[in-house]
Amino acid sequence: MKIAIAKEIDPSEPRVAASPDTVKKYRAIGAEVAIEPGAGIKSGLPDSEFSAVGATVSADALKDADIIIKVRRPEASELSQYKRGALVIAIMDPYGNEAALKTIAEAGVSAFAMELMPRITRAQVMDVLSSQANLAGYRAVIEAAEAFGRAFPMMMTAAGTIPAAKVFVMGVGVAGLQAIATARRLGAVVTATDVRPATKEQVESLGAKFLAVEDEEFKNAQTAGGYAKEMSREYQAKQAALTAEHIKKQDIIITTALIPGRPAPRLVTSAMVKSMRPGSVLIDLAIERGGNVEGARPGEVVETDGVKIVGYTNVAGRVAQSASSLYARNLFSFIETLVDKPNKALAVNWDDELVKATALTRDGAVIHPNFQPKSA
Ligand SMILES: NC(=O)c1ccc[n+]([C@@H]2O[C@H](COP(=O)([O-])OP(=O)(O)OC[C@H]3O[C@@H](n4cnc5c(N)ncnc54)[C@H](O)[C@@H]3O)[C@@H](O)[C@H]2O)c1
Repeated sequence: MKIAIAKEIDPSEPRVAASPDTVKKYRAIGAEVAIEPGAGIKSGLPDSEFSAVGATVSADALKDADIIIKVRRPEASELSQYKRGALVIAIMDPYGNEAALKTIAEAGVSAFAMELMPRITRAQVMDVLSSQANLAGYRAVIEAAEAFGRAFPMMMTAAGTIPAAKVFVMGVGVAGLQAIATARRLGAVVTATDVRPATKEQVESLGAKFLAVEDEEFKNAQTAGGYAKEMSREYQAKQAALTAEHIKKQDIIITTALIPGRPAPRLVTSAMVKSMRPGSVLIDLAIERGGNVEGARPGEVVETDGVKIVGYTNVAGRVAQSASSLYARNLFSFIETLVDKPNKALAVNWDDELVKATALTRDGAVIHPNFQPKSA
């Protein structure tokens, strides 16, 4: 059983899919591990740290691998290096990328999307959405603090008092909760909103204030899977009216609102941005799915009338060492379930719910029900 750790070809991706810690674990379950040179360097992990725990560092690492682990979906140029029948496991970003999935299928590899892991107790250790969103939520506050011209905590000094920064977090999933906690640690006065009623208590338990239109639709806004539903136009209008007044008085807004498989809901309009004081900062963590803030641009900081809209992509990657370390452990926990340990061999149970939920391609075809060609 050969496992290969790929070097990411996207220059904007600093994360790596393994750590020396997980290489040790792969070796302990009987795998041979190879890594492409320099794969970990942007995460602070030189080749020597991988070879020290028994990984082979080789430019040909991928060629005969049974399992290839990556951060991002492989491109056609990468697929040509994989052997047919290999498993490739990554954050595949499959929604809206059906053509890329077809290319993967045609390369004869079995692709698994870590972000489709079901959110059940058994798979909690494999939950890349949580591990990465948690760090993104933390980093969003650090970015905000950096871009903001004032201090976060209230400071009472001999020269006078500086008021605490007001932070509003929109969308209280994993990223939002960590953003609230981090902003509170820095001394900000924090408010937050979400469409899922369950978040109210979580917000309050972190010492922040909850703000939302709490009508009948709100009471039913959570799916059985624990995700938000797409809200009606009427609800979104009511929510916008409520938040518009609040936004005027905020210094920092961090938006994290997402609905699985859908574009991000637009929560902050240009008029709302315009209503904020110069020096205010918005961090749009939903930018890769279209953004929650009107005017936000992927990878850019847009400044209008002194208000900055930060649209950094791959925010977890801006804490690359921590992000890689947690992602590596998520991956190991999943791969462990694909292995027949006594025989030290790969033994994928295609009926396992974790496999069913994450397997995108197999034997030349796209097999995941959510990504079938439209005509099928
Ligand atoms: N293993 C597990 O059981 C597990 C692990 C992680 C998260 N979860 C749960 O899954 C749920 C989703 O978490 P996530 O971080 O992946 O969410 P997410 O990234 O899909 O979305 C972020 C947040 O945006 C909110 N949102 C959507 N539309 C909105 C709107 N119009 N206005 C305001 N907010 C809006 C969502 O309700 C969610 O809280 C949570 O209940 C979380 O606790 C469970």
